Amino acid sequence: MSTHIAAKPGQIAPYVLMPGDPLRAKWIAETFLEDTEVYSEVRGMLGFTGTYRGERVSVQGSGMGLPSFSIYAHELFAEYDVQAVVRVGSCGALSEDLAVRDIVIASGACTDSSMNRIRFEGLDYAPVADFGLLRAAVEAAEEMDLPVQTKVGLIMSSDSFYSARPELVTRMADYGVLAVEMEAAALYTLAAKFKRRGLTICTVSDHILTGEETTSQEREKTFGHMVEVALDAMLA
Ligand code: HPA
Repeated sequence: MSTHIAAKPGQIAPYVLMPGDPLRAKWIAETFLEDTEVYSEVRGMLGFTGTYRGERVSVQGSGMGLPSFSIYAHELFAEYDVQAVVRVGSCGALSEDLAVRDIVIASGACTDSSMNRIRFEGLDYAPVADFGLLRAAVEAAEEMDLPVQTKVGLIMSSDSFYSARPELVTRMADYGVLAVEMEAAALYTLAAKFKRRGLTICTVSDHILTGEETTSQEREKTFGHMVEVALDAMLA
């Protein structure tokens, strides 16, 4: 096992979906995978492996924020030889072109986090998605004829859900940033470091400009569309 994941070598598939909420990981495993086994329950951050259309796939909870996400993604890449991670999460919309329940596929992630500032000693690194996964996700979403919009573009990965400077988040929106969440920049940076593939797909759970929010039932339904897009993209 690694420090925070209790799996034995070989128990985690080369392709991993990462929702923030470990109970979402359980829901994904129960809803979409067959022959599922739990490989880790350390700190309640559940991890599952099963099959999707005959291919082995794992689902690992990440927790919220870049530091928590980084712990799990680092160990998946460094200790379990994971080749591709798709984060499936929620985001707050910053664009008037987005409505709640829409899907955002993040081509790149701006951040206010100090993690990359420390890693690159103040230089601005631009964390971007794996282009093959991004293209496959866009194609999968187009083929699925979803009842919601899918938009591709920049998002912001923030260290704070309750921002002390919300005007900085909306300034990002003035420069084309579509939505805010709290993990993608960490995934894209670590995927690059380990020469693996990473993509973030989010459903809009709330709208920062209008204050609109989704109910938990609506979130579950649209979460399902996003998971199917993610699984199809990973196995394309
Ligand atoms: N901020 C940060 N992360 C989020 C938000 C938000 O408003 N909504 C969903 N994830």
